[in-house]
Amino acid sequence: MKHLKTEIERVRTAFHQALSASATLDALEQMRVTFLGRKGEIAFLMPLLKDLSQEDKREFGPLLNVLKEESETAYFEKREYLQNLAFETLEEQQKDFDVTADKPQKTEGSLHLYTQATQRFEDIFISLGYTIADGPEAETEFYNFEALNIPENHPARDMQDTFFLNLPNLVLRTHTSPVQIRTMLSQKPPLAIASLGRVFRYEATDASHDFMFRQLEGLVVDKNISVSQLLGTIRLFLGKFFEKDDLQVRARPGYFPFVEPGLEVDMSCPFCTTGCSTCSHTRWVEMGGAGLVHPRVLQHGGIDPKEYSGFAFGFGVTRLVMFKYGISDIRLLHSAEVEFLKQF
Ligand code: FA5
Repeated sequence: MKHLKTEIERVRTAFHQALSASATLDALEQMRVTFLGRKGEIAFLMPLLKDLSQEDKREFGPLLNVLKEESETAYFEKREYLQNLAFETLEEQQKDFDVTADKPQKTEGSLHLYTQATQRFEDIFISLGYTIADGPEAETEFYNFEALNIPENHPARDMQDTFFLNLPNLVLRTHTSPVQIRTMLSQKPPLAIASLGRVFRYEATDASHDFMFRQLEGLVVDKNISVSQLLGTIRLFLGKFFEKDDLQVRARPGYFPFVEPGLEVDMSCPFCTTGCSTCSHTRWVEMGGAGLVHPRVLQHGGIDPKEYSGFAFGFGVTRLVMFKYGISDIRLLHSAEVEFLKQF
């Protein structure tokens, strides 16, 4: 049994030598593994106990425990010391760091096109007396569909391919129109709101379609709202955004379950007057949907359709940004390509 006692002493001496020699946190960690690790020197001594007599166990057991506890305490003390030392060294090095120093060849950042466009639209709508509203991206099926007059099992649900979440009744919103319902339930008419945000559709991507894009929603509810007010508003904000006073809009019949009548809205091509590749030589480009709010949707929003009427529109901000800045591929907008982003 002398042998075990000698071993304990040997390990203790070796441990303390290695501890004093560890001048960095990395070296200390290596030392910890060698002595205190699961396969380290101290762990190696423990199983030797089980072959001993009861009497010897009573003698050596405590010795081994003391070795282990002392070594651990010494290790933690040294670690704290080295950590403090590293921190002080860093502080010393950074003492003279001048955060205001001018750096030659500055690379300046810029706001992303989406941020610029969002701010511009918000300014335009605020100047028209609208307030800015918001809604969650993970939306309930009720707000995204039912309340917008798209019942379960209705074929209209297939108009927008949906990402369903692994949470009951939640989807990634397929459009910004649910904000209409949230607004009507929280504000009394007359009301005018605009809402900008991300929407998601389970779609294959190409140069003009993405599975995540941005929309701009508008909703006005008051007495005697008409289609001409709707078209006038659309012409106004598109003209301001594209900085073109002579911008024209036209409406074609379109089907959206939450408006009646429903309209597809085109605007005159901002790049030409006679036809170009952007407008496929038609002079018109399709920008979004609109219409007068369906009476059932007003009811879902707690508003009496006999007293009030409203208009709503939903435009693809992504498409508006692409037109404004002449971007031919939607995927560039979501890429982190600095060379592309630096241009704007
Ligand atoms: C809607 O999303 C309706 N909520 C719009 C609306 C609101 C109609 C209020 C009536 C009243 P739609 O699915 O057509 O409609 O999408 C509107 C616009 O989003 C499109 O005109 C287009 O500009 C843009 N868009 C649609 N899918 C994509 C896509 N995958 N990638 C990029 N933009 C898209």
